[in-house]
Amino acid sequence: MTNPAANNDLSALPTLSSELNELNEAQLIEFANAAEALILQVNDVRLLQDLRVQLTGKKSPLTGWSKQMGKLSSDDKKTYGGWLHEVRSRIQEALTAHQQQLEMTALNAKLASESIDITLPARGAQKGHLHPVTMITQRMQQYFIQAGFNVATGPEVESDYYNFEALNIPEHHPARAMHDTFYFDAHYLLRTQTSNVQIHTMEKNEPPIRIICPGRVYRNDSDQTHSPMFHQLEGLMVTERSTFAELKGLINEFLEVFFGKELTIRFRPSFFPFTEPSAEVDILDGNGKWLEVMGCGMVHPQVLTNCGIDAEKYTGFAFGMGIERFAMLYYGIDDLRLFFQNDVRFLKQFG
Ligand code: PHE
Repeated sequence: MTNPAANNDLSALPTLSSELNELNEAQLIEFANAAEALILQVNDVRLLQDLRVQLTGKKSPLTGWSKQMGKLSSDDKKTYGGWLHEVRSRIQEALTAHQQQLEMTALNAKLASESIDITLPARGAQKGHLHPVTMITQRMQQYFIQAGFNVATGPEVESDYYNFEALNIPEHHPARAMHDTFYFDAHYLLRTQTSNVQIHTMEKNEPPIRIICPGRVYRNDSDQTHSPMFHQLEGLMVTERSTFAELKGLINEFLEVFFGKELTIRFRPSFFPFTEPSAEVDILDGNGKWLEVMGCGMVHPQVLTNCGIDAEKYTGFAFGMGIERFAMLYYGIDDLRLFFQNDVRFLKQFG
């Protein structure tokens, strides 16, 4: 391979005779000095390689002089040999040292250009959290799970049968009118209560049954305390010996654990077609006002029968509560719609 034309200007080197025996030591030292200065001026590795060839290669003056060594007397050989060796060593050392210098500089430049400034402040991520309704749901579930209940789910698009009929609410029953139901057609609707899960669960499982079911329900109603979509948490327990006393004990304990304080609680007689007897549960607030928090009762024998459960052998109780209502009481919020507007300024307060 031929060497590409050298680009280095060698005019700074002293012009010396090509005849070795016409040179003296001073001239050679001057030559070495000039070569070193020339080497230091090069700032490109490829040009430096060219310069190495120009200064020490086959066609260089230095090699030219070295070739004449054979013709010298042994005394002159020592003298000139020493000088030439000195010149060649100095030039080679200077070339090697400068090459390392250039490579180092290039590496540092590359590293500097690729470096990342880790001192720049980060853009700042906004940390989110669960929705308050989700957090309240989890707080409610937590109590019932430790009390031995399993979490069940059921469909939100439901048939008339599971939402009403099987729950002892036949067609034309006045309770239907109170539900403001969203119908798809004559048979399908958006469930108005999570009580449909009672039916699905009892159809598929043998007692003992202990389930809760949190979920969305829908009613055509909207004001400060009603939203067309809201959440309920249903509970159902069916065993050979479930009693109203047990229901009362469970609900009392749940309410006190949930709110984290002792409460004055009353069970007020009420009516639901699917429980008998039925009650509403009220808690006394700080202003001496009774707040209704859930409906409950003993599962109506007809409902057990509808699901293929022997109503002579088994008894059960059920309860259902509005999750947003618990969230409003727990956090002290007076407008239910805030939960669904998803205004970050509101939601942020629950982190
Ligand atoms: N499903 C009833 C409602 O939506 C609540 C309830 C559930 C009552 C279970 C009794 C037993 O109002």
